Amino acid sequence: MSAPTPPASVDTLVAQLTLEEKALLLEGVGAWNTNGVPRLGIRQLFVTDGPHGVRKVRANAGAFGLAEAEPSTSFPTSTTLAKTWDPELARQVGAAIGRESAALEVDVLLAPGVNIMRSPLCGRNFEYFSEDPLVSGVFGTAFVQGVQSEGVATSVKHFAANSNEDFRFVGDSVVDERALREIYLRAFERIVKDAAPATVMCAYNQLNGTYCSDNRELLTDILRDEWGFDGLVMTDWGATHDRVAGIVAGCDLDMPGEVAHNRAEIIAATRDGRLPEELLDQAVARVLALVDRCSADHTAGAVDAEGHAALAERVAIEGAVLLANDGALPLDAKRSGLVVIGEQFERMRYQGAGSSLISPPATVSPRDAFDRRDVSYTFARGYRALDPRIDETLERQALAAASDADTVLFFGGLGDLEESEGFDRTSMALPEAQVRLLNGLVDAGSRVVLVLSTGSPVEIPRHDELAAVLLLSLPGMNGGEAAAQLLFGEANPSGKLTESWTRSAADASCAGDFNRSGVAAYYESIYVGYRFHDKAGTDLRYPFGHGLSYTTFAYRDLEVTVEGGRVTATVTAVNTGDRDGAEAVQLYVRNNRGEVFKADKELRAFAKVRVAAGDSMRVALSFELDDLAYWDVEDHAWVLENGSYEILVAASASDIRLTAPLVVDQGRVSRSPYSAAVDHAYATPPASVPAVFAELLGRPVPVLARSRRLGLERRLGDARRSILGGIFLRAVIGRVKKDFEAALALPDSLERDARVKSTHFVLRMMPSMSLRSMAMSSAGELPFHIAEGLELLAAGHPIRGIRRLAGTPEPQETR
Ligand code: BGC
Repeated sequence: MSAPTPPASVDTLVAQLTLEEKALLLEGVGAWNTNGVPRLGIRQLFVTDGPHGVRKVRANAGAFGLAEAEPSTSFPTSTTLAKTWDPELARQVGAAIGRESAALEVDVLLAPGVNIMRSPLCGRNFEYFSEDPLVSGVFGTAFVQGVQSEGVATSVKHFAANSNEDFRFVGDSVVDERALREIYLRAFERIVKDAAPATVMCAYNQLNGTYCSDNRELLTDILRDEWGFDGLVMTDWGATHDRVAGIVAGCDLDMPGEVAHNRAEIIAATRDGRLPEELLDQAVARVLALVDRCSADHTAGAVDAEGHAALAERVAIEGAVLLANDGALPLDAKRSGLVVIGEQFERMRYQGAGSSLISPPATVSPRDAFDRRDVSYTFARGYRALDPRIDETLERQALAAASDADTVLFFGGLGDLEESEGFDRTSMALPEAQVRLLNGLVDAGSRVVLVLSTGSPVEIPRHDELAAVLLLSLPGMNGGEAAAQLLFGEANPSGKLTESWTRSAADASCAGDFNRSGVAAYYESIYVGYRFHDKAGTDLRYPFGHGLSYTTFAYRDLEVTVEGGRVTATVTAVNTGDRDGAEAVQLYVRNNRGEVFKADKELRAFAKVRVAAGDSMRVALSFELDDLAYWDVEDHAWVLENGSYEILVAASASDIRLTAPLVVDQGRVSRSPYSAAVDHAYATPPASVPAVFAELLGRPVPVLARSRRLGLERRLGDARRSILGGIFLRAVIGRVKKDFEAALALPDSLERDARVKSTHFVLRMMPSMSLRSMAMSSAGELPFHIAEGLELLAAGHPIRGIRRLAGTPEPQETR
């Protein structure tokens, strides 16, 4: 046998490719593959969704590929993972998903999602880590390192400032330079620098007037030139706007691809010089380098499915947050008189809907876990989660069951009809059926323990009259077992919140302008989450970093050293209760009182420590002095200011236990780069878009064009009142509605739930899509010339419209 020919170098291969082959290599095919060039031995890559497991869609599952996936471990979703405050767990989850990906021959895992939770209403918060960039960056880094340690590439998404779903396809995130750097880009920056992800996925939305997929400042100047990213940039699914501008901007791969128009554009623009050949070749070379990297690293080993399920369970336990407890928890598993209410007890909501939906081989619901323990209880379903109507019979039965209960365990939270990728919520309320039931139970004098499954903060009715609140978030396939262990005290809660819980959406830091229109004014600037609430004095339901335990912790003996620009704070955490437990110790730094407006304090380090009952442990938390720098908009650089700072060691953002001064003198004397008007308006966080927002931005705040016509860049829902828009929307909605109704009609099963969630996600997302995003993501089902033809017709150009529909190029386009 002759020795295999060594693979040709990337440069040699690029030189051998035809222009058509290059254009083909820059887009995907079949929803989840890149193109290959068999004659040169260039193979296709297989990419698929994370981040909560591997969603390897079975063949023929349609363009969004939501129908069925190969079984894989369903891990707790990212928000739950971050609530462990233990990045080592994120590394382990990443590695486990990496192993499953390798076994399923996945080359690139489309994960993690590290967008900042700007609003509690964002439908996709469950897929993100935190409102805080340090938490998001540290967890994203650990996750990427874990996945890539198994030879599988990652795609960190969605780059950048993609903080809502309702306007994600067309919206413009209008963010000032400083907030962009300090809040929205910071997690990406850390991950790129510390974990070297193989790819980055650009977001759908515009950032400051330019679609992310065409944004050279974002994809080249910042990502590559400044941060040193040397991997590939791919689009989100259908995020391509102007393909040629995209390649020039540094966007290499168009996914899911199969857009003949884009290929033709690449070829034409290369021929007529609009697309410099070296930029085309550079993008092709990045695709080939990724193929090389994935081929070299691919090392599929055996998958320990049981071990992974156990890891999922551990994360669910460590990420659950005991929000309130008057002593009702833990429960005695042997007691009688326990009444359990709520459909989620037997049909647990353990993951979110949309592209991250996993098909686990099995799940353990709370009911399964109670039954394994022979717990005696009376159960009443109370409400239906995947049905928005109130079922009065279920409600009556639940109230009757609870009438002489000793303790009522109420399993509730958001369902997939309320919270999902693809659309945002309009309030933080729980579903009405649950609110009514909770009110009824409390009115009847029941002692209620609320167990919540939700990916985002919710309003908690009758909060102060509840006996305890345990937040499971979305706990993955073994979430029921985790719940039982925590409720019965077999495990001790140790999770803490990674976002602030306001009492209602009106108190959120961006409430003054969230989802009002396609122009999202990020007017609150750096004041996101606790950075806002600290200064605004919000009366929070629960602060960032909050979480109780069945034991208690005291903090003492804070010592601070500064050596070589690194600050280390060492503190003793004492377990003062009678149970072993774990504590997430947080270190904030109170900012100097300089000339530049700043948050009161910012999280700079954290550590999770496990301490046996009665024991204590020294904990070291450290950070770089440079981490205290702010982004100066005059210098366009990080600037460390001299002055008096303060180290705050805390159990939550509102529970500061120890403090120590920190004087910085190796930085620069404080001087504001802003006008007096901006300084004044931002000395405390604005409650709505201030008049000086334009000045902060350095340009006028864009104004949305008022047209309601069907158009390439307009949401279908916004065009619904125009004749053509109405017809088109009804046609597409009609089609997806049939799928949704068919799913609803299936017999009760996990399969039905998955189909209901997926079809509902597409149904709700449809009005937010634009003709362009549909054409770009439909894998050829809606050819771009049809989208263009429809736009021309809607604009009152029947002849040109019909010519485009028929595929005839516009006269000026003929080359
Ligand atoms: C989502 C991405 C996902 C992609 C592929 C998009 O709609 O925003 O996060 O990776 O679909 O499923």
